[in-house]
Amino acid sequence: MVRKPRLALIGAGHMGLALAKSWIQHGLIAKQGWLIIVDPNPSEAAQKLADEHKIAIVPALADDQSALLETLVLAVKPKLIPEVGQALAQILPVTTLIISVAAGITLNRLGGVFGTRPLVRAMPNMPAAIGRGATVFVAGPGTDENARAQAQALLSASGMAEEVHEEKTLDAVTAVSGSGPAYVFLLAEALAVAGVAEGLDPALARRLACETVAGAGELLRQRGCDPAVLRAEVTSPGGTTAAAMDVLMGSGGFAEMMRRAVNSAARRSSQLGAQS
Ligand SMILES: NC(=O)c1ccc[n+]([C@@H]2O[C@H](COP(=O)([O-])OP(=O)(O)OC[C@H]3O[C@@H](n4cnc5c(N)ncnc54)[C@H](OP(=O)(O)O)[C@@H]3O)[C@@H](O)[C@H]2O)c1
Repeated sequence: MVRKPRLALIGAGHMGLALAKSWIQHGLIAKQGWLIIVDPNPSEAAQKLADEHKIAIVPALADDQSALLETLVLAVKPKLIPEVGQALAQILPVTTLIISVAAGITLNRLGGVFGTRPLVRAMPNMPAAIGRGATVFVAGPGTDENARAQAQALLSASGMAEEVHEEKTLDAVTAVSGSGPAYVFLLAEALAVAGVAEGLDPALARRLACETVAGAGELLRQRGCDPAVLRAEVTSPGGTTAAAMDVLMGSGGFAEMMRRAVNSAARRSSQLGAQS
């Protein structure tokens, strides 16, 4: 008997592909029954993944495919949600769980597009591409225990996934973990530039900065995520690290700048939500 599609991914861009890979790696597709990817203009990477795992990529869902869908994951750009969603809402069963990862698109807005049905709004981040993502999600009022467990299973395939019950939390989550990888990349970039200013060869400075950020990140993870303790461990009083910390932790330094940056990102997320 031919297996029927039960899970659809709409949008096979950076985030959509990261999620699809995680579902495949965790054997969720076999459990779900099938995955169908919808993208009118799939990238080479999307096509390769589909070919390797014998997954169909179609430009749009056909009525008979959508009628069987248990879950649909929306990973298109936020501005496309109304257009893409309205077309889908007409053909999806009212029981299909919609999981949106679109930044700033509120549950209220999703409800406006998709009507009354199980809805989940999630905020993943890019390390999902290597199974090390951090995702927080919130479920809409008509979303039962089964649908929330389904969302938890799909989202935790790419790393940690936690449910929260207050939607406004997602603005802070977006500012901390959604946008967070960019802050860490900037840290590596700035560290390399500073190394060059101290006389290092640029290629060596870049390698050192990247390995330092990656190695320190791994250490943090393996040692139970207690950054203040680890920082204290590597900072001897009166030593070289302490000299740097005096600058970074002083007035207007790193902690204060991070506070302002995260606040700015959270306000932007809230604005996008208000506009959506
Ligand atoms: N990237 C991140 O770090 C991140 C983090 C958290 C949340 N998100 C959210 O994830 C979503 C996707 O982001 P992304 O970075 O993956 O963007 P992206 O790389 O641009 O991916 C979106 C994909 O959707 C495709 N698409 C366009 N119209 C479509 C349609 N009608 N039906 C199906 N697919 C369609 C796009 O094709 P074309 O390129 O041909 O238009 C593209 O392949 C966004 O809503 C974003 O807010 C992203």
